[in-house]
Amino acid sequence: MATSAIVQEQPPFVVGLRCLRCGTTYRVGELDYVCSCRPNTGSDLGTLDVIYDYQALAQAIPPGQLMADPDRGIGRFWPLLPLARRESLPPLPVGDTPLLAVPRLADSLGLRHLFIKDDGRNPSASLKDRASAIAVARAREQGAAVVATASTGNAAAALAVLSAAAGQPNVIFVPKAAPPAKIAQLLVHGSLVLAVDGSYDQAYDLCLAACREFGWYNRSTGYNPYMTEGKKTVSLEIGAQLAQAQTDLAGPAPFLAPDAVFVSVGDGCILGGVHKGFQDLLALGWIDRMPRLYGVQSTRSAALYNAWRAGREVPAPVEATTRADSISVDAPRDPFKALRAVRETGGAFLAVPDEAILAAILPLARLAGVFAEPAGAAALAGLAQAVEQGLVRPDETVVVINTGSGLKDVGAAMEAGGAPVVIPPTLEAVRKALADSSGRRPQD
Ligand SMILES: Cc1ncc(COP(=O)(O)O)c(C=O)c1O
Ligand SMILES: [Zn+2]
Repeated sequence: MATSAIVQEQPPFVVGLRCLRCGTTYRVGELDYVCSCRPNTGSDLGTLDVIYDYQALAQAIPPGQLMADPDRGIGRFWPLLPLARRESLPPLPVGDTPLLAVPRLADSLGLRHLFIKDDGRNPSASLKDRASAIAVARAREQGAAVVATASTGNAAAALAVLSAAAGQPNVIFVPKAAPPAKIAQLLVHGSLVLAVDGSYDQAYDLCLAACREFGWYNRSTGYNPYMTEGKKTVSLEIGAQLAQAQTDLAGPAPFLAPDAVFVSVGDGCILGGVHKGFQDLLALGWIDRMPRLYGVQSTRSAALYNAWRAGREVPAPVEATTRADSISVDAPRDPFKALRAVRETGGAFLAVPDEAILAAILPLARLAGVFAEPAGAAALAGLAQAVEQGLVRPDETVVVINTGSGLKDVGAAMEAGGAPVVIPPTLEAVRKALADSSGRRPQD
């Protein structure tokens, strides 16, 4: 890929980039996207890992220092980010989302230590803000005129919001069928929105071609190696928040690893990012073991699940038809990082039916107070299946990541939540409605 014309300042602790396919290493700025061993489209791109000098970082920065930073968002992790300057991050608070102890939901699953990391509470209401913040920051450091992305909706919404905050022109390729709330976000924040009359995969390939043609900076998942680095901040926060929550049990420690983490999967970039965050903490000696990572797909979009079951390195494309639009992907673009995350940590991929995904919106909402879009709820549906299969023990510490807010797809929420009781404006009607609901408490 083209080397940026602008001489880049170097992120202080990044030593380079390494291809997951062929092992070739590159200096930062030597290339922007994927390795030349496989530069085209499809599932077997030459995806790159960003490599840090952990020894130098651990010597320079004590672990407590990051968490004591007055910046509560992802900026506090700046030494572990691929940025030359912390000020390159857009001026919106990304990250620092709550890790919620959810005892009622835990009870319903027969677990004792269950937490929800609610990433629906980011500025654009999904985890993708973590990656898009890095995209905007790197675009600024490289002097890119335009940033573009293909997206099932949330990565684009995140790019739109963060670009607006930073004054960064941007072009978005989304499938025309993305939920209206996500498209509305793009429009109000001023992106050029190209709603592709086709699938996400077609939008992805078109964005790639357009970026090559017009010289735009491409944020697309799996193609841009730095997106993993943004997404990994969710794990850095989980490690810190768990340590805080469990000080009584474990004694004071700045970071603590859970036993298992559940996250939904489309392209596989979030799962790869979750893995990278815990790997960073382990390499720095700030946690003493890795959690098992579980990637949850819909049975109607299960390319990575299928590949994992079959022991394949490159997933065979599927025809994705899941209602969980954020994880509806034919050919996953970040398969190597996702498969590695599960294989190296002794986790698993799980495939859950769409009915279980929509149904899982309700316990999250009613037992934990968390409103999730279908892709977020899929992670909980995966945990329920894992408990059934005996993959998780009752006494283990488990984290489920809600990757997106329920307000992103109100249609799906209405399908799960049912219809309201429509009544005339009389007390009599209220009495009748109460009688009809026969003993059902309002919160059930
Ligand atoms: C809410 C939500 N959950 C999960 C995912 C899946 O992430 P990935 O495609 O990186 O696997 C996405 C991606 O768009 C998302 O928006
Ligand atoms: Zn390569």
